[in-house]
This record gives sequence, structure tokens and C-alpha cells, in this order.
Amino acid sequence: MKALVLSGGSGTRLRPITHTSAKQLVPVGNKPVLFHGLEAIAAAGVRETGIVVGGTRAEIEAAVGDGSRFGLDVTYLWQPEPKGLAHAVKIARDYLGDDDFLMYLGDNIVADGVTTLVERFRVERPAARIMLARVPDPRQFGVAELSADGRVVALQEKPREPRSDLAVIGVYLFNSVIHKAVAEITPSARGELEITDAIQWLVDHGLRVASTITTGFWKDTGNVPDLLAVNRVVLQQLAPATDGVVLGSELVGRVVVEPGALVTGSRVVGPAIIGPGAVVTESAIGPFTSIAADCRITDSWIEDSIVLPRASITGVRRIESSLIGQDVVVTPTPDPPRGHRLVLGDHCKVEISS
Ligand code: DAU
Repeated sequence: MKALVLSGGSGTRLRPITHTSAKQLVPVGNKPVLFHGLEAIAAAGVRETGIVVGGTRAEIEAAVGDGSRFGLDVTYLWQPEPKGLAHAVKIARDYLGDDDFLMYLGDNIVADGVTTLVERFRVERPAARIMLARVPDPRQFGVAELSADGRVVALQEKPREPRSDLAVIGVYLFNSVIHKAVAEITPSARGELEITDAIQWLVDHGLRVASTITTGFWKDTGNVPDLLAVNRVVLQQLAPATDGVVLGSELVGRVVVEPGALVTGSRVVGPAIIGPGAVVTESAIGPFTSIAADCRITDSWIEDSIVLPRASITGVRRIESSLIGQDVVVTPTPDPPRGHRLVLGDHCKVEISS
């Protein structure tokens, strides 16, 4: 069995972060979302992994390398335009050959991993096995309808009127017949070759599509609230550790201070992580907050947030539920308060409390 990880696409819902970086590389608990997926693939015993990449290819290659540190043997597969999940399978046709494969969407986090799913597929050998979860609003997902014995009988991509509350999660197992399906389908109304249509083709041709309904935590990290939710869950799983320097500060609960970090005169309430080289001074951090490498946080209060590398925040009380990009600088105005002075890139979103 091989793995196919989809890390192309444009990430419009995470703009402006995705103007400069790949959405799959946004860190949760200071680790890129994509790495959590690669670790799950390795844990399931799959080694040969094709990663589909688009415009952010260089960045993803730099972060993942040859995959050896995950125990994977990674090959990059170039998709010039994000023309759909089934299109990505088409791109990967030669790489996959006639092998079974695990397809994993690089922006999804599945806390329980994929090992059980892979094992059941190996034993039962359906044409496909998909993972489903009950969601309150299925309209933003692929939606499945099941027969009484749990077979998939119909799939719709982002339906306006969903016929069930079962969303398709970004983990799929296929045998090589999917290539025939992918070759037969045509682009959807949104112009993409949909994997849901390819799976529907399997169903329509009498092939068995099995499903597993998970009750474990999972998320598509495609928007900021979901990304923050994933960050909260990942932080709660970290083992507390103080490898950096902590002076005159209080660490409460599950706190990680990574090597080379310096925390002085501050209070850090877990779950929280302070990245390598970060300097936190006279500040309150957490709970549910990830401060990435080389940030400077001074005289500020930040909770339920993700701060990306090298951001500098001074004199702000308080920041909450925020995603702050790389190299961002937030400072108080030098003069007595007048107006807010903002230099914001395209697609930024700012909510000001005063
Ligand atoms: O998250 C689960 C959902 O993922 C499913 O319920 C849907 O059925 C499925 O279509 C997909 O929907 P999204 O709209 O969330 O897919 P998105 O465009 O975000 O792409 C998912 C991943 O695949 C992401 O890491 C980007 C990558 N991708 C996407 C496209 C369209 C590619 O590598 N190439 C592509 O052409």
C-alpha cells in the first residue's frame, strides 16, 4: 500500500496567511498540520508516500524533505492547478501504479489516526473505504448516505440540502479501480474533478464502498476557528516540559517551553507552548496558546491564539482567538492614544475592541 497526501490547493479561507505560506504548514501546537498527517500514515505502517503539491511546492518540500524523519519515503507530485481531489489522483496515476492507496487530505487532522481504517481495508478489501463523522452543518463537506448495513449508497459534494449529517472526512482508502472512476467522471459545477463523484461512480457500478463513522476528534483546518479548535486539542496532548530558561515566572498546568526560549516576569497558563528562541517578557500567555519560534512577546496578554514565527507583540491587553502571521509587528502608538495605526496586507481581518 502507498499513501497519497494532498497538499496543493490555494487555501483562500486562511488568507492572508496563505498568501505567503501553504495552509498545510500552519502550525498547531507548534507543529505543521501536515506533519500530524504524515505521522499518522507512518504509524499505520505505510512507507511510500506521494505528496501532491502546487504553488507552495518549494515550501512543502523544504519542510518535509525526503520524509525519512517521519519514517516515510516521499515523492513529490506536481499539480499545476488545483483542479480537484480526483484530479490529484489522476496526477498520481503513474506513481500509484496498481497499488492500493491511502489518500489523506493534508489540511485534515484525525486524532485517532488511520491505523484501524487501514487494517480493516486490508482484511475486507472493498473497492473503497471512507471515513465519516456526524456534523451539525454538513453543507460544507462531502455528505454520505448509508444503507442499513453501512454501505455507502450515495454521495454529494457540499449539497445545499444534505440528505444526512454524515460528513466525509479527508481519509480514504482505494484499490486501483478508482483510476477507472476518475477517468470517467467530468468536472462538477465548481469546475473540479470531485473525489465524491468518483466514489459515486464506484457505487453506481456495483462496487463495494465501505465506511467507518468516527466519534473521535477530527477537523478540516480550512478556516481560523477550526484551526484554533485543533490547536486547543493538540496542546492538551503535549507533555509538559521546560527546556528553555524561565526566570521570575509562573508556569501553570500543561506548559511546554522549548529549548532556547526565554520567559521572564510572566505567567504562562497551560495548555500552552513557547517555541524555540521565543522571548516572553512581563506577559500573560494562555491558556490554549501556541507561540512559535523566535517570537517576541512583551507586556502583553494573549490567549486562545496561534502566533507564527518571528512575530513581535508589545503592550497589547488582550489578544484572544487570533491567528497572527510570521514577522507581524504589533506595538502601541508612541503618543497618547489617538487612532489605531494599521499597515495590513490584503485579506487581513482585524476586530478592534475600542
Ligand atoms: O475536509 C473534508 C472535505 O475535504 C470533504 O468533506 C470533501 O468531500 C472534500 O471535497 C474536501 O473538501 P474541501 O473543500 O475542504 O477541500 P479542499 O479544497 O480544502 O482540499 C483538501 C486538501 O486537498 C487540501 O490540503 C488542498 C488539497 N488539494 C485540493 C484541491 C482542490 C489539492 O492538493 N489539489 C486540489 O486540486
